[in-house]
Amino acid sequence: MSIAIYPGSFDPITLGHLDVIRRAAACFEKVIVCVMVNAEKRSPMFTAEERVELIRASVAGMDNVEVESFNGLLAGYAESKGANVLVKGVRNATDFDQEYQMAAINRGICPQLETVLLPSSPAFQHFSSTMVREMIKYGQPMEKYVPAPVAEELKRKERA
Ligand code: PNS
Repeated sequence: MSIAIYPGSFDPITLGHLDVIRRAAACFEKVIVCVMVNAEKRSPMFTAEERVELIRASVAGMDNVEVESFNGLLAGYAESKGANVLVKGVRNATDFDQEYQMAAINRGICPQLETVLLPSSPAFQHFSSTMVREMIKYGQPMEKYVPAPVAEELKRKERA
């Protein structure tokens, strides 16, 4: 069975991430979206549990997609899941440089682990969780940037 892991911080998941998940789900028998907890460089907007729930709600109906969180080494996690592929979305040359390096690191740890890079769809080339958090700060409507369950949760938080 071809199992791919799509790892990231997803704080929060954007429409760009969702596009990568949909496309990966069409290529592999199973895709595990993994919220990497130790990847955080700052205090997150959503807890890891909230992010997992928001991604689960966003991928509802995609039968070969699972969502989990993990705190540790990605290559070890992939091995424990029997996954042979890491999927990453690439928006530009900066992403490519980083991902090229990370692919080499991950293959150094686990030689059979391939990284598959999906070029982002043009509509989402400028999307990032950082940009979304910035838009939230300035009260911009979220529907353009994030899946509906995330936009609803943001509205609920605003009302609370
Ligand atoms: O969404 P992000 O923050 O760009 O994702 C980065 C992530 C989580 C994919 C990366 O930081 C990662 O793989 N972290 C897990 C720790 C690890 O395995 N490091 C070695 C590979 S560089």
